[in-house]
Amino acid sequence: MNDFARRRRQLLRMMGENAIAIIPSAPEKIRSRDTHFPFRQDSDFWYLTGFPEPEAVAVLVPGRKAAEYILFCREKDAEKETWHGRRAGQEGAIEIHGADDAFPIDDIDDILPGLMENRTRVYYTMGAHPEFDSRVIGWVKRLREQLRSDAGTPHEFVSLDPFLHDLRLYKSAGELKLMRRAAQISAAAHERAMRATRPGMMEWEIEAELLHEFRRHGGHPAYSSIVGGGANACILHYVDNDAELAAGDLLLVDAGCEYRNYASDISRTWPVNGKFTPEQRALYEIVLEAQLEAIDKVRAGEHWNAPHEAAVKVITRGLVKLGILEGRLPQLIRDGAYRRFYMHKTGHWLGLDVHDVGDYKVGEEWRVLEPGMVMTVEPGIYIAAGMKGVDAKWWNTGIRIEDDVAVTRGAPEVLTAECVKDPGEIEKLMAG
Ligand code: GLY
Ligand code: MN
Ligand code: MN
Repeated sequence: MNDFARRRRQLLRMMGENAIAIIPSAPEKIRSRDTHFPFRQDSDFWYLTGFPEPEAVAVLVPGRKAAEYILFCREKDAEKETWHGRRAGQEGAIEIHGADDAFPIDDIDDILPGLMENRTRVYYTMGAHPEFDSRVIGWVKRLREQLRSDAGTPHEFVSLDPFLHDLRLYKSAGELKLMRRAAQISAAAHERAMRATRPGMMEWEIEAELLHEFRRHGGHPAYSSIVGGGANACILHYVDNDAELAAGDLLLVDAGCEYRNYASDISRTWPVNGKFTPEQRALYEIVLEAQLEAIDKVRAGEHWNAPHEAAVKVITRGLVKLGILEGRLPQLIRDGAYRRFYMHKTGHWLGLDVHDVGDYKVGEEWRVLEPGMVMTVEPGIYIAAGMKGVDAKWWNTGIRIEDDVAVTRGAPEVLTAECVKDPGEIEKLMAG
């Protein structure tokens, strides 16, 4: 049984009798006028179906003898396929994608109300696709009208998110394999970008190097690549990538590819001219130490926030040592004095989505890490120009180091380990 079938079976078991689950594919999105964004399948839909097309709806009906997994999808159409690409059709949905039964998507209004009959609980996540919400409500209404009564019609809508998103937090062996590949491609992309960097280049030229490496291995950017030199490195979500790179500045790159729908997410920071200044290196070494200490906390039994706490401690201590912060360490940590320089968290879950699903807390408590969970570890220090009380020699310095780390039964597995981050090694790579 493949991963998709296994997940559907888990969901069918969880739903119990008298229930039905409805999971729509992602809609196609207009980019401008009649041009679409490249299609990206909805992550939950993909997780359960592995079906790559838009205009599809998966329906799970536990205990239904004729078919428990029904896929509505586009019909085969020679002319449309000539213009827009291949379609699996209903036969493909069954033969290739494992549906028990399949119908044309255009027939869904006629068929779905009947499938809902005597199903009192509908597993459907409201709010994710607003246009689809009203169709689901329409099917319930139609069924009521057909039955002329409320008996045998759904009276409870339950979100699929808590169940699915908890499942998605634990990566299977197959998922980890894809994530290792995504990580490996991104690592190569960052190293390619380091080698290519020269003063006077435009940030977009570095972005092009990343893209080249992603695409030549079958990946796409998992999010808009951040390529920020000097002052731009201090803007956390900088994506303009349109400034000239100057000698003496640092370049912060946050870029990762998505490979077969699985994301990777790497940040590296390197000197535009290939050599760190003493100030840049001093700050860089603090971030690197914070990152290594944080990674060491990505272990089964530690709680979600342990890596962040480790990073905060190293960064605060480092900033005191350099004279950028003054005071006693425990007090500075308690007061959050580091937040002026380190204003984000140390990571997030990673998977089908770059900021992947899954709760970070259980009740009031931080979640305890378990094997199969994957997260990023990405501490940073950002000192923008003109920062009050900070010597000008530290200004315009933005540093982040980010790796993707899997929790295992033993030591943390750094999926992105192939990408250099030791400052000496970065200089060597850039010189070579
Ligand atoms: N690139 C987005 C992040 O690092 O979370
Ligand atoms: Mn990240
Ligand atoms: Mn990132």
